[in-house]
Amino acid sequence: MNTIPNEYLIKLIEAGIQAPSGDNWQPWKFKLLANGFELWLDPENMGEFFDVNLVATEISCGALIENVVTLATALGLATHISYFNNQADKEEGSNKFAKLTFTPSGSQSDVEATRQAIFNRRSNRNLYQFTKKIPTTVITELTNLVTSNDHYKFYNYQTPQSKSAIIDNMLATDAIRFANEHVHNDFHKALRFGKTAEQTRNGLAAATLGIESFMFPVLKLLKPWKITRFFNHFGLHHIMTFRATWLPMKSSSHIVGIVHQGPVNYVEAGRIMQRFWLQVNKLGLSLQLSSSLPLFLARYHLAQGEGFTSAQLKSLAAVENDFAKITPGFNKETDQLIMLFRLGYTKHPAPTPYRREVESFLI
Ligand SMILES: Cc1cc2nc3c(=O)[nH]c(=O)nc-3n(C[C@H](O)[C@H](O)[C@H](O)COP(=O)(O)O)c2cc1C
Repeated sequence: MNTIPNEYLIKLIEAGIQAPSGDNWQPWKFKLLANGFELWLDPENMGEFFDVNLVATEISCGALIENVVTLATALGLATHISYFNNQADKEEGSNKFAKLTFTPSGSQSDVEATRQAIFNRRSNRNLYQFTKKIPTTVITELTNLVTSNDHYKFYNYQTPQSKSAIIDNMLATDAIRFANEHVHNDFHKALRFGKTAEQTRNGLAAATLGIESFMFPVLKLLKPWKITRFFNHFGLHHIMTFRATWLPMKSSSHIVGIVHQGPVNYVEAGRIMQRFWLQVNKLGLSLQLSSSLPLFLARYHLAQGEGFTSAQLKSLAAVENDFAKITPGFNKETDQLIMLFRLGYTKHPAPTPYRREVESFLI
């Protein structure tokens, strides 16, 4: 019996696909059921260098599920979730990831406000207003939201010393990022100029990067790795790091991190990250993720650093040690850094990124 009309299911999926995904690859597909839908992974849009063991894909799926559950709750529906992403399912080669079914559980509330929050959440890569500080009460509210799950810790690099130290740490990480051939090629594969973003409706539209438009031809010129590698000999990666990391980080009111203690379930981490992000944007704050350090560390530990040169591995070990020093209580043997963010206020709204049409995800 079709207990939930398809029209409702499509609305829920539409909310789901507003979730963030690494380089906006949108690595998912959906199969409609009578009372819900199955979430499938899309192998064509995942597995990049930053997606070791599908960590980034799982975070994105968690964010998608959080959007769906949030809207379903507002619509008066309870969500029941079963997962198929365990080792046995992976070994069988199935891309079925989760099944979400819905049952009526109460009355509707705040549907429009909930939809707005989900559809208005954005990555904002513009420079922020350095002098406009975030009130302490807001930081406390965000800390409580994340740490309401006992396994999660929230770090706030607030003092000038700790802010400088985390920025130095991020600069050292991004110097590795801009000097790594795999990351370089993945970024340029995702980068979209002009009308291409509108046509493919995925990837990173250059206009959403928050950089000056005179940088676009420079990025086009640097696309072949050989050219970038040549200029890296003359310090190009340090210039890129300055513009892509130092300036945005310096302009931010706060740099914060979410850490998980003990073995992590990245889907759950993605749900918590999304809950945090929705609240950040609802409070009128802007946010940009900085995933290089968390995802490099995941690769370092889960794939023995495969894909890094030996010099990069040495730098990464040093970066991890420095991160542990400036993050009190962080135990590099047992804790996982889930994500770093910069937060702040900006006068420049984030441009709307593209999403593919819902129909293109249905199987
Ligand atoms: C696992 C993961 C890692 C990401 N890493 C970064 C990052 O390092 N820098 C950044 O600016 N955005 C990062 N993003 C944000 C995506 O690029 C963004 O969600 C996507 O382009 C869609 O844009 P939207 O968030 O505005 O909807 C990441 C997102 C996810 C889920």
